[in-house]
This record gives sequence, structure tokens and C-alpha cells, in this order.
Amino acid sequence: MCGIVGAVTGRNIVPVLMQGLQRLEYRGYDSCGIAVHDQGLFRARSIARVSELQAQIDASGFAGNSGIAHTRWATHGGPVIDNAHPHFSLDRQGDRRIALVHNGIIENYELIRTELKSLGYLFESQTDTEVIAHLINHLYDGDLLHAVEKAVKRLTGAFAIAVICKSEPHRMVGARLGCPLVAGLGHGENFLASDAMALSGATDQIIYLEEGDLVDVRQTSIRVVDRNGISVNRKIDTVSATAGPAELAPFRHYMQKEIFEQPGVLADTLIGSENLDAGMFGAGASEIFKQINAIRILACGSSYYAGMTAKYWIESLVGIPVSVEVASEYRYREPAVNPHALVLAISQSGETADTLAALKYAHQLGHRHSLAICNVGVSALVREAELSFLTRAGIEIGVASTKAFTTQLAALLILGLTLAKLRGHLTPEQQRLHVDALRHLPAAICRILELEPQIMAWASLFARKENALFLGRGLHYPIALEGALKLKETSYIHAEAYPAGELKHGPLALVTEDMPVVTIAPNNSLLGKLKSNMQEVRARGGQLYVFADADSMVAPSDGMHVIQLPEHHGLLSPILHVVPLQLLAYHTALARGTDIDKPRNLAKSVTVE
Ligand code: G6P
Repeated sequence: MCGIVGAVTGRNIVPVLMQGLQRLEYRGYDSCGIAVHDQGLFRARSIARVSELQAQIDASGFAGNSGIAHTRWATHGGPVIDNAHPHFSLDRQGDRRIALVHNGIIENYELIRTELKSLGYLFESQTDTEVIAHLINHLYDGDLLHAVEKAVKRLTGAFAIAVICKSEPHRMVGARLGCPLVAGLGHGENFLASDAMALSGATDQIIYLEEGDLVDVRQTSIRVVDRNGISVNRKIDTVSATAGPAELAPFRHYMQKEIFEQPGVLADTLIGSENLDAGMFGAGASEIFKQINAIRILACGSSYYAGMTAKYWIESLVGIPVSVEVASEYRYREPAVNPHALVLAISQSGETADTLAALKYAHQLGHRHSLAICNVGVSALVREAELSFLTRAGIEIGVASTKAFTTQLAALLILGLTLAKLRGHLTPEQQRLHVDALRHLPAAICRILELEPQIMAWASLFARKENALFLGRGLHYPIALEGALKLKETSYIHAEAYPAGELKHGPLALVTEDMPVVTIAPNNSLLGKLKSNMQEVRARGGQLYVFADADSMVAPSDGMHVIQLPEHHGLLSPILHVVPLQLLAYHTALARGTDIDKPRNLAKSVTVE
């Protein structure tokens, strides 16, 4: 979603800001822009890619010692040039006084806009952001920090901002509430960014600003002021993860690269899990895990489907009830509170606004115990949760989650097995079997990846379709949902997933010979019932594309296409079965020529609700 990068330096900062924008591209955006101080405020904006903005800059010789830059994902007002950030506010002489970039949503912007309009401020855009620029200008008394401090008190909603001012050339002020913002310390230069990765190559010394913080950035100093107006010392972290996305070669897209990274990142995520020791989840986890009598999972997108899979695992392994809820729904309802439940928030980024708000809401409601499963150790979600487990997927660039999803599944299976062991539901023999199977997971994924050529052949057929149905049962129903999500977000083919037993309650009406029906057919207790469901599809002329286990005894025949997965341990089956679905989506999207790593309208980290 939106990204911010800014700097105060003694050199031409444009190349660093542009590199920062390139590093933020993966988050998803529809316009971008940059403003610099060069004896006045100047800006360039584009509704195309960062590379187009770069071309404008190369042509104009645009330069400056301090500046701010932004990638925008439209919320208020469409992706047109007037709505792209940075936004300016002019002084009485008509000179540009304030330039500002903003992530988040200002909920009371209409009220402030009306007020500022009546004071004579002219609005060029439909954004909520422009009101902040004018408000700061209106409150400006010669000190940018004071003006920002007063302005943010008037704002409701969520924001991270970076502001520069014509009359204070060597200064930049930032503020955050509800959206991430980091300050970066350099040598004789300092930075702001919404994501430490944007500062890769510039600095690895990062301050994660806290809720309500204001930050006064100058060339040789950074001063942080908390929400009460008190100067505070925030911890400086050395962030090695600021290394940007690795080389793409030999892959064509990050999605493909990330699918193929799964054996390695799963092996990394499994490190230290051999004894199923509750300590992996943080100090005190053992006591908490013994006390809880239920689990409430909160998440969005693919993380939500990982949570749905965990419900099947944990209820069968541990015997405690697990409820899974979309975070954006939970945060606005009045749920029954069980203080003995563990609230489990799942998120790749740890930044998703709804998941973070849902976890905070659960705490406010009186939930005492919480656990975050997250891919980013320094995220707001991990800071908010009592316990945490980090997946080790590495930076995921493709908007469509792949390796983050499978590492979440691995983490959730480890959680289920750890709870089962701690609560006496596993015999030593069962424990040995499961841990052994987990150890073989990376190798099993490698064997699945070898199916790519067969899946490519299917993808060329799928690329000509506009609809697809995905069926799964039990543990594999969430995997069918994830498969349908992958296909729709990358190839723009309408795809729906159903638990196969529901087929007769509606979706069967859609089945014709033009409807590919992807079926996940593991060899488990539901296989016989699934085969009956498959017959129902065949009887209506539907074309079945079946991912079957080696021993599922599903043979190819007319209208029944089958790819056999290598043998594997049953409990791991969802982690293995999702990989061919990722490849099917990737190759179908490739055949349709879509922007695979940055699907239209979507963002990697949804930092606004
Ligand atoms: C966006 C991404 C998805 C992701 C979801 C939740 O929609 O495109 O891939 O699953 O957000 O993100 P999180 O970072 O909380 O897992």
C-alpha cells in the first residue's frame, strides 16, 4: 500500500529517494511522487510506474538536499495526477510553503476541509491528505514541529506523515498514529520511511517510532517527541533485513521465485521446533498454553485461510475449540469474551490495519493472552501481542502470498503439536512420527515443485477460461479457498472455492463443460465422499482437474485430468497441496500476461482499513 521515504542530507538526495520508492513498489501503488527543497519546493509526480517518474526527473535535472517521496494506493480520490502525493500548501504570496506525504486515512477530513476552505485555502485534489498540508500551513508560526504537533491533534483516523517546509530547508518532521513510520540514522544525514527496507543502502540504523510519536529530523540529529509532548529516547535497532529484495534471476517474477524458495524458508521456520518446546513462542508460553481452553484466530486474506487450516489441525490434535474470524469483522462487533481463550493473530507483515486493530480490540475486551504468528519481528503486531512466533519466509515481494502462507501453515502445525504435547495428547511415538514428518517437509515440497511442467500444460487451458471452481473437503477446504484466491488475484479469472459437500447446494448450477473444477483429492477418510462429489461434476459435463495423492486411486479418464502428488505424511497434506495451486495460478497469469507481482488494485500490506 502507500509508502513514504524522506531525507535531510548535505548531498543531492534524489537518487536515494528514488531508490527508496523502487523498494516500496512491491507494496502496491497507483501513483508516485517526490518533492525536494532546492531554494524553494519542487515536485514531480506520475500516475505510471516509479520508472516513469525517474524518466521525468532525468529529463528535468531535478535535485535537492532534502526531500520526501511517496507511492500512493488510492483511497480518497482516484489515481489521477492531482491526487498523487506530495501535496503542497501555499503561503499568502502564493509560494509553496509546505510539502507533505501521508499514509493512512483521515476520518474527519471533510470537516477540516470545509473549515480551511472558508479560510481561503484552495484544494487541488480529492484526497484527505491535502487537508493536513493546509492545516499545518495554517498553524505554522515559524517552527514546523510546533505546527505539526498542533495539526495532528486535530486529526482522527490513522496516519504516518513526512513534511518539509520552504522556510526551514534542513528540516523534516514526521508523525505517526496507527500507521508505521521509522527514522533512519545516517552519517551527516537522516531519514524517514514507512518501511525500513526503503532505506536499504542508506542506513541500517533504525528507530521504530511508537504510536503518537512526532519526529524532528535534521541533518545531524533526530529528536523524538512522544504523544504527551515529552522528548524521548527511542531504541536504535540495527536492521539487517534492510537488504532489499534479492536478485530475481533465473526467475521471471518474484511470485515464481518465492514459490521455489519454499523448501528453504520452511526449513528455516522449522529450526528449533524438534522438541516441540513451548519456549519457542516466548517466555511464559508454557504456563499460558496449559491454562487456555479455546483459541480465537484473527487474520485477513491468505493469513485467514492459514488460520482456517489451523482450526482443523488444532481441534483434532488438542481437542479445544478454535474459532477463526476475519479481522475486519471482529473489530466492529460485540463478540462473547472468553478470558481463558488465546487470541492468535496471524499476519505476514504485522502491519495489516484490521488485524492490528482486531488484536487491540481483543485486549480491550478483556482477553488476557495473545500470540502473534508473523513474518516481521519488528512489526506493530508482534509488539502488541504477549507471545510471538516468527515465520522465517524472508521478504515477500509478490503481492500474492506464497512462501509466507506455507511458513504460516508450518508455524501453526508446530503450535498445534506443541499444545498437544504439553497437554498430554501425544504419545512419545506420535510425537516422533510428526516431528520426523516435519523434518521431511522441505524435501517433500521439492518433489512437488518438480510437477511444474505438468501444471504449465493445465495453465495454458485455464488461461482461456473466465471462471473456475475449486473443491476441497475438511483440512483441504481452506486450501481450495487459497487456490481460488491465488488464481483470481493473479490471473483475474473469477474463481470460487467450496467445501465439496456443499456442491449440491448451489455451485453445481454453474457446472458446464466450460467450467474447470479443480479438486484437491488427498487420500484421507473423506476421499470416498469426495469421489462421489467428483462424479456429480462429471455427470454435468464439468471438466475435473484433480490433484490427487499417489495412493488416492484417481485415474485420468475423459473429462478427468489428474496430477499425482508424491507420497507424504497426511498431517502435512495442506502445506503440500497448496504448492501446485500456487503454480497453477502463476502459470495461468503468465499465459494471460497480467502484472503478476503487482496485480491491479491490490496491495501487499493493507495498512488502511
Ligand atoms: C493483502 C495481501 C495478501 C495477504 C493479506 C493479509 O491482501 O495481498 O497476500 O494475505 O493482505 O496480509 P498480512 O500481512 O496481514 O498477512
